[in-house]
This record gives sequence, C-alpha cells and structure tokens, in this order.
Amino acid sequence: MTATDEKPACAFDRKADPCIIVIFGAAGDLNKRKLLPALHNLRANRLLPDEFAVVGVARRELSHQVFREQTTREVQALSATTRGPSWIDFAARLYYSYGDFGEGATYERLAAQLIEVEKRHHTAGNVVFYLATPPTVFAEIVAGLGRAGLLTERDGKWRRVIVEKPFGRDLASAEALNYELHKVLSEKQIYRIDHYLGKETVQNLLVFRFGNGVVEPIWNRRYVDHVQITVAEDLGVERRGGYYDKAGVVRDMIQNHMFQLLALVAMEPPSTLAAEAVRNEKVKVLEAIRPMSGDEVIRNTVRGQYGAGMVGGKAVPGYREESDVAPASNTETYAALELSLENWRWAKVPFYLRSGKRLGRRDSEIVIQFRRPPLALFRQAGIDQIGANRLVIHVQPDEGIDLQMKAKIPGPRIQLRTVKLSFNYADFGEQPEATGYERLLYDCMIGDSTLFHREDMVRAAWQIATPILEAWAERPAADFPNYAAGSWGPAAADELLACDRRSWVVPEAVSKKR
Ligand SMILES: NC(=O)c1ccc[n+]([C@@H]2O[C@H](COP(=O)([O-])OP(=O)(O)OC[C@H]3O[C@@H](n4cnc5c(N)ncnc54)[C@H](OP(=O)(O)O)[C@@H]3O)[C@@H](O)[C@H]2O)c1
Repeated sequence: MTATDEKPACAFDRKADPCIIVIFGAAGDLNKRKLLPALHNLRANRLLPDEFAVVGVARRELSHQVFREQTTREVQALSATTRGPSWIDFAARLYYSYGDFGEGATYERLAAQLIEVEKRHHTAGNVVFYLATPPTVFAEIVAGLGRAGLLTERDGKWRRVIVEKPFGRDLASAEALNYELHKVLSEKQIYRIDHYLGKETVQNLLVFRFGNGVVEPIWNRRYVDHVQITVAEDLGVERRGGYYDKAGVVRDMIQNHMFQLLALVAMEPPSTLAAEAVRNEKVKVLEAIRPMSGDEVIRNTVRGQYGAGMVGGKAVPGYREESDVAPASNTETYAALELSLENWRWAKVPFYLRSGKRLGRRDSEIVIQFRRPPLALFRQAGIDQIGANRLVIHVQPDEGIDLQMKAKIPGPRIQLRTVKLSFNYADFGEQPEATGYERLLYDCMIGDSTLFHREDMVRAAWQIATPILEAWAERPAADFPNYAAGSWGPAAADELLACDRRSWVVPEAVSKKR
C-alpha cells in the first residue's frame, strides 16, 4: 500500500483564535523541548494569527529581553527547526512574568502583564494557561488564577487551562484535583493533555476504523481473537529516577496513554466527530472494563523490574542502581495486564497490554489478531495449522500499518508464507519536523477538546488502575529485579498469554516502502 495522488480531505483549514498562551513552568524542560518549538512550528506553518503572544512564568526575576535571549539559546540548542526569520518573528512575541506559584503577588503581576500584552498584540482577551509544572502545584496555580479573576469568561472572551500529566496518582487524588479545578473552572475550560494523542498514527486510528467501510464489519468478537497493545521503551529512567520511583509504569504509561489507545481501538463509532460524541464513546469503553478483585489482579497481571543487562550493545545498570531510586525499591518498571471488556462487541476477546522500560527495543504497536480460518483446508498438503492474520498498527518510532496475510509460495507444491500488505507513513513524503504537541495546542486554541481527557474518562481509567496498584502494594514483589535490561520482560508475562495458548508478538520495524 502506498499513498495515492488523490486530493487530501483536510479539516485543518483555519487559523487559531487570537490569544495569549501563558506557560507556567517556563524554565522547565517541557517548555523548552516541546511547547515553544511546537508553538513556533504552528506559527511558521501559518496556523497562528498575528494576534498571538506567549507569556512565560517562572520563579526567577528576569526582564522580557533576557528571557527572550536565554530561551532562544536554550531552545535552539535542542531543536534544529527553531532558527531563521520564523524564530525571530516568534521570539518577538515572547514575554515573561516572574514569581512563586504559591504567592498572590505572582498572579497580580501576571494580570497586569496580560493587559499590556493584549493591548500590544490585540489578542481579544482570550488566554490559554498551560500548567507545565510538577503536579503538586496544579491546584495552587488554578486557585491563584481564580482569585486574581483571570479565569472569568465574559463578553465572548475565553479562558482555558491545559493540565499536564500525571492527573492524580490514584482515584482519590484524581477526584480531589478535579474538585479543586471545578471550584474555579467549568469542565469546558479544562484541557487535560495526553501527548500520545497528538501522534499521527494515534489520530489515524479513528480514520482507519471509521473512514474505511471494509474494516468495521470485522472489528468485533466474531473475527478478532485478541488484541495486544505494547509500549516498549529501551531507555531506563534517565534523570527522572525521583519522579519514576514514586510512579511506576502503571501510573506513568498505562493508566493514561495506553488506556486511551485501548479506547480508540475498542470504541463504538461516534454519531459525529464532535468532541463530546467521540469522548462519550471512549468513556463507555473504559467503563466496560470491570475493576479487578485482589485475586483477579494476581491472576491477570504481571509486574516486573529490570536488573542490569545489555541494551544496544552497552552494559546498563539495574533499576535499583539508578540515581534517585531507592536501593530496595518495589516500583514496577514493567507491567502486563489482561483486560476484559464487558460489552457485546468485545465479550470474551482479551485485551493484553504491556509496557516497560529497558526492553529489547523502543517500539509501540497495536496488534489485532484475527481468528484462524474455520476449516483446516490445507491439511492434505501437510499444513495443519495456518497462523492467524494480524493487523499491526505501528505507533512509534516508525508509523505505519501492516496487514499480515498468508500467500502461496510459487511452485508445484502448496507452501504458505506470511506476507505483509504495508502502509508506511513515510510514503506521504518528508513531513515537517514536529514535536507532537502542535495539534493539541492548536486544538485548544480553537476550542476542540476531542483529544483531551474528560473528567469521567480520568475517573474511569483510575477505577481500572487503582485496584491493581492497591493489590500490588499489599503484596510487595518478592522477585524484583525479575527481568534483565534488554530482554522482553519477565517470564511470567509470557506465561500470562501461554495459559490462553497465545504469545506476545515480537515488535518489528514497520515495513519499508517497496
Ligand atoms: N519534560 C517532558 O518531556 C514532559 C513530558 C510529558 C509530560 N511532562 C509533564 O510536564 C510537567 C513539567 O515537566 P518538566 O519536565 O518541564 O518539569 P521541570 O523541568 O521540573 O519544570 C517545572 C518548572 O516548574 C517550576 N516550578 C515548580 N514549582 C514552582 C513554584 N512553586 N513556583 C514557581 N515555579 C515553580 C520549576 O521552577 P524552578 O526551575 O525554579 O524550580 C520548573 O521550571 C510535569 O507535570 C511533567 O510530568 C513533561
């Protein structure tokens, strides 16, 4: 499969609304690595209007000019696209406001600053506040903005808040954060971001499923044997040991990104592409996963932690030897779950999810494994079992789709081989460099919340994850570390599928253009 020359159907056809983006945590990694480059890319691609500016907020007292110069140096060291006239145009729109997020004076200063910037750039009173900060200060910032009157929408001016992950660390803390946000914001103003949903292939899932009439009739328990979702990282915890040791893979990866992938794979067709219609269907899928009892957690999940090993030909230390990790840490760096969806479409079709750090290679993919043919027609030719057809959706690092089919090897005898019908995103040609945040920032600026988590979605996801975390906390793992860095995880994860006479599909690179 290759991309055809047909004219593209495009929904990305207007500039964002005039607005200011205020970034809390402007001195942080996320802002420099992703947010400013993404905003610059949007502006360079003419998706932002002239009536646009950015205000960074951080602790140190700096002038606008020093902030611009420092930011330019730091951003350019990280991203090759942030240079030339487009960056000069963008940097002229950068402003700065300082202060500790716990102090009222920070918000008064910011309010005065916003009046000035609005006058200069005619941003129509619209503001996005982006919380690129540790989650411990999310509620404090929103309360400060509320007290300063900065979240009030009137006379057609909108105010929106983008909240970074993690959103809570269990059901109770997520509910508490939602409660704090709702004291000063309506749900419509809250954009809980999930950068995974900004990836092309993830967005393509909806198009693949609902833009192709041939797919939908076979997308159910009658034809699908099971689904596997893998998010494998070859990296360890790098410099984030302190954060990771309190989180683990379920909180960091599964509860948010992987449950969203699952929802996109399993949801019913929405009646329209309106944000609420899509999100209603996604939340129904998560609500169809029954939370596990303690015994079910033991039967249907596997946790792991990496020990020392070899990755990419280099010896790497075990998790407990990483900096800022407790020497006897019980935090899981790997998890595999078998989930059951209790609805008509997916009854008795297991969804196997696994994610881990320091695995064999970096690869995220979704495998839809179909049922085998009902009759062993090729038995006379000595072929007892024909392997199942699989649809493999590659999410990262390569993006593409492979359909694995059986074909006859040319010759007088019947011999079968698996062949792939492949589509590679690279077939669309060279794409401009992107951070993955462009689409999400743009959507927030046009008021489209389709790709953001809604309150009930967060609750449903924690309702599935919390019993797993609680059961694991009650019974600390006795066998950690239980997989070597560079392997594909603990042996028990293979047994989880072997009990069902299935096995994990070893991730491969997306097929290259032929
Ligand atoms: N980095 C990524 O690639 C990435 C990816 C996905 C999600 N996220 C999420 O994005 C958020 C930010 O991540 P990050 O990596 O950018 O974190 P970071 O590098 O630690 O930056 C956070 C910034 O917030 C500031 N800050 C914290 N508390 C403050 C306070 N009370 N008053 C004033 N400033 C305060 C810090 O200022 P100081 O420098 O003065 O301490 C720092 O500049 C986190 O929620 C993270 O989970 C990050």
